[in-house]
Amino acid sequence: MTKEEFSVTPYEVTGQVDYDKLILQFGVKRIDTASLARLKKHTGDHFMLRRQHFFAHTNLDKVLDALDKKEKVYIYTGRAPSGPIHIGHLFVWTFTKWLQDRLNATLIFQIPDEEKVLFKDDLTFEDSAKWTRENLIDIIALGFDLKKTRFLIDTKHANVMYKLACQVAKKTTASTVRALFGLKNEDNVGKYFYTTMQSVPAFLPTVFEGKQTQCLIPCAVDQDVHFRLTRDVAEKLGYPKPATILSKFVPSLSRDSKMSSSGEQAIWTTDAPKEVERKIRKYAFSGGKDTVEEHRKLGGNPDIDVSFQWLSMLFEPDDHKLASIHDDYKSGKLLSGELKQILIDKINAFLAEHQKRRLDAEKVVDSVIAQHF
Ligand code: TYM
Repeated sequence: MTKEEFSVTPYEVTGQVDYDKLILQFGVKRIDTASLARLKKHTGDHFMLRRQHFFAHTNLDKVLDALDKKEKVYIYTGRAPSGPIHIGHLFVWTFTKWLQDRLNATLIFQIPDEEKVLFKDDLTFEDSAKWTRENLIDIIALGFDLKKTRFLIDTKHANVMYKLACQVAKKTTASTVRALFGLKNEDNVGKYFYTTMQSVPAFLPTVFEGKQTQCLIPCAVDQDVHFRLTRDVAEKLGYPKPATILSKFVPSLSRDSKMSSSGEQAIWTTDAPKEVERKIRKYAFSGGKDTVEEHRKLGGNPDIDVSFQWLSMLFEPDDHKLASIHDDYKSGKLLSGELKQILIDKINAFLAEHQKRRLDAEKVVDSVIAQHF
């Protein structure tokens, strides 16, 4: 597949994504300098914004207006449990936690434990319950303020959601859902209904506060399709349109696609140091040259190098350090193996801490699951 032939849906990403084209395809907006400056006034700076890894949005101005007026803003994000957590998920949630802290906002964290059961033939509700618990351990380990975070588990909290989901469903035709998600007549009707459940949390801030309340949704750009539907329906039901702040994808090890729970091309949060080292040495797509001599002479290409991309997106917040890695790699001074070693050390230092925090999270996860919404 060439760069021209990429495809992005909430259920599959293929090819090398051209984000400029995607902005046009999805009808979203690039985060321009003016909106970024307005946002920074309230949140301060973050390298993921500065480097345009969060690159697009919808309705961000509505959130900025609300913040300027010192009105409450809610944050909403989610995870459909279907497998282990990889570092691509952590990328979005690290940013989400930072936003929550900076805005001192309530976060609604949806766990749609029916979504992947409906979309994957071999996933049962038992599997999904197991992954809900496992995934929540990682989410809690990231340090979200539990007093200000409400976990919404669809099958458990259906009473809070069902009526609103039906109201969304009543304003949504099957042909709209079919077109947005590429569904077919043969697809089960649960797949058609599910998106209404993903709309609901965007309206809950208004329900909870008893007045029009703005909601901001950080996620990777694939999820915006759901919220396109939410925005249309919001107007019809009298809720404010939610805003999204959208990221690029953390690429898989092979760079063929985004990192995903179903592929083997991922680093899991539970990987041991040796496993991280093995995967990166063996699979991380390199922008280096085939031989040391050639590399020294011609230099490598950081823009296509997965190790460099991961440092830029996740593991090297310091712009000066990142720039010198970039320049040294490009000039041939830094070899591909050395670049990989920098990344391996960073990931393993991060995972050592994260895995410790997972042990603490395990002690509270059952009480989090047992909470009423
Ligand atoms: P899910 O479980 O597939 O993914 C959870 C979150 O991780 C993001 N993500 C990635 N971000 C960067 N690089 C990657 N390689 C990568 N892979 C996954 C996803 O965009 C998502 O933000 N339907 C949703 C669950 C959901 C949700 C939401 C997500 C329910 N409500 C509200 C975001 C906001 C899903 O299947 O996500």
